[in-house]
Amino acid sequence: MLDQTKHQEALAKANAYIKEHANEVNKRFYPNFHLAAPYGWINDPNGFCYALGKYHIFYQFYPYDSKWGPMHWGHATSTDLIHWEHQEVALAPSEDFDISGCFSGSAIEHDGKLYIMYTGHHVFVEAGDDSIFREVQVLAVSEDGIHFKKIGPVIEPEEGIIHFRDPKVWKDDTGLFHMIFGVCNLQNAGEIRHYTSKDLLNWDFVSIIKEMEDNAFMYECPDFFEVNDNKWILATSPMGQAPQGYNRQNPSVNSWQSGSFDGKSFTPDTKLYEVDHGHDFYATQSTGTPDGRRIVLAWMNMWKLPFLNYPEHWCGALTLPREISFKDGHIYQKPVREVESLRLAKTEYSDADCTLKSTIKAISNNSATELNFSFKPSDNDAEQYGIAIGNSIRLYVDRQTKTLTLFRLDLNATSYRALPISWDEEHKLQIFIDNSSIEVFIDDGHDAMTTNFFGTDHSISIYATNGQASFKGLTVYDLERPLFNAPLFK
Ligand code: FRU
Repeated sequence: MLDQTKHQEALAKANAYIKEHANEVNKRFYPNFHLAAPYGWINDPNGFCYALGKYHIFYQFYPYDSKWGPMHWGHATSTDLIHWEHQEVALAPSEDFDISGCFSGSAIEHDGKLYIMYTGHHVFVEAGDDSIFREVQVLAVSEDGIHFKKIGPVIEPEEGIIHFRDPKVWKDDTGLFHMIFGVCNLQNAGEIRHYTSKDLLNWDFVSIIKEMEDNAFMYECPDFFEVNDNKWILATSPMGQAPQGYNRQNPSVNSWQSGSFDGKSFTPDTKLYEVDHGHDFYATQSTGTPDGRRIVLAWMNMWKLPFLNYPEHWCGALTLPREISFKDGHIYQKPVREVESLRLAKTEYSDADCTLKSTIKAISNNSATELNFSFKPSDNDAEQYGIAIGNSIRLYVDRQTKTLTLFRLDLNATSYRALPISWDEEHKLQIFIDNSSIEVFIDDGHDAMTTNFFGTDHSISIYATNGQASFKGLTVYDLERPLFNAPLFK
């Protein structure tokens, strides 16, 4: 085991800084029921697992500022996936192999301990220029699930390989550990490598389960799990793929595909496709639950976009946990059923009350709201109809493009994402609005759209422009706000 002194010092410094500064966070955009850091910057969810009797979520974390910096691992625990308790920082950069950051990875319980496998990142050039760096997969361990000791690097790249990161570890029924991670190979092509181990320390290379598709030069944050009998899902965030029609418009894209896996090769049914069609969804990570569900979370932000909350001392949040299923050849994701425990007051509208003709109707003014309704495009003749949130968001069915469109109107971040929808079928929407984010689930999770916005006007209206539209069965819930003031670790 490594000498832990430097790591313990780095953790103590980060924990003390958070305690001292958490009350400086400006909460005008801070989430009510999505997990964000008590202070500082979040990106990818890491180490999502059920271990030692609880759910654990870790996240890429810079505790000293609301922008990306040398990555730590923040940590929270929960018994229901909804009410999270902040925990002490789990990992901090401290050693030569991770001095520039403890990058993304995963966690797994083994022999009554919680193990983390993460990427140690070491930049060899000036701060801010990360063109030459070295990445290795590193093992750390905790007896109590809170305090981690670094064991050290367990897989190192061959000479000349730079991008080599984001290990996801799982155990099969025989007790064998598997690991996959993303690599940019010596031909500058993206690949996902697969290794196995009996003890988490000694790893053997097995195969490449994914090669370059559509010019992806690197696959960030790969995840791989079985959903039905020998139906596997590969989830990843490929870098370098060009936009295509309504797809892949985000600066960084998260895409999934299903297929079969024989322990060595993955044979996909389809190409990679986006499972969330909004602006802010990246770097997904999943876990199995004790009752056999597969749950995924994503970073609810995006690289290279203006983060308008920089001066607020926090930036970034995780999506709601979503349950994954696979039906009729398609990947579904819907909010976990535990989300229903957030519901407080309920308002139900009669059909007459929610059929609008060229008008707008206020329905809520609450920054923590769930909306449910359905609509059938061919029954409505409005040119555009949907939901308005202040001057920030329009979510609407558009007669001209035959899409469900999510339009963020805020300055510096104005843009839309659109999802083509069938016109003769009824569609169902479940929408979560949380202060500065909207998550939309379409047709029981057949599709989703997730977007942040930056307005403080939380008035929510339904509207129909130039014609009539029915928002059938419109139900509005006020939601609990458990994470707005979640207590700090002791
Ligand atoms: C994805 C990513 C990962 C990396 C981490 C660094 O968003 O770039 O590949 O491990 O973020 O914070």
